[in-house]
Amino acid sequence: MKRVLVINGPNLNLLGSREKDVYGTETLTDIARKVMIEAERLGLEADFVQSNHEGEIIDKIHEARGKYDVLIINPGAYTHYSIAIRDAIKAVEIPAIEIHLSNIHSREEFRRISVIAPVCVGQICGFGSTSYILAMHAASLL
Ligand code: DQA
Repeated sequence: MKRVLVINGPNLNLLGSREKDVYGTETLTDIARKVMIEAERLGLEADFVQSNHEGEIIDKIHEARGKYDVLIINPGAYTHYSIAIRDAIKAVEIPAIEIHLSNIHSREEFRRISVIAPVCVGQICGFGSTSYILAMHAASLL
């Protein structure tokens, strides 16, 4: 069974109350529930984690070695500047999929750059919580 680790970065714990016009009203717990249901449908084993701390996210990526076959990551604002997270993804050599709730390419200029995307298989953004579900499908096909 393919094992997938879904990693959520800073401020995503505030989904549901944070900038609802941009990110919607679902909480991260709601999204985790949907992801787990989809995992079962697709025959994947999934874990779902969140951290507000760059170093902790890097630790989770390192610890994924030998435990997971695919990483799905919403790095939050770290997307736009964390070379350390980028290097961690590259170092562990686990195929990764970058996801976002919002379409980062249609927002502020600084969000259009992802330093993470070049070390990922691909990027899915703009579909709200469905970005997570689409990524689970992509993971099942990798
Ligand atoms: C986000 C987009 C980022 O630019 C932002 O900093 C976030 C959320 C998204 O899922 O749309 O925290 O990653």
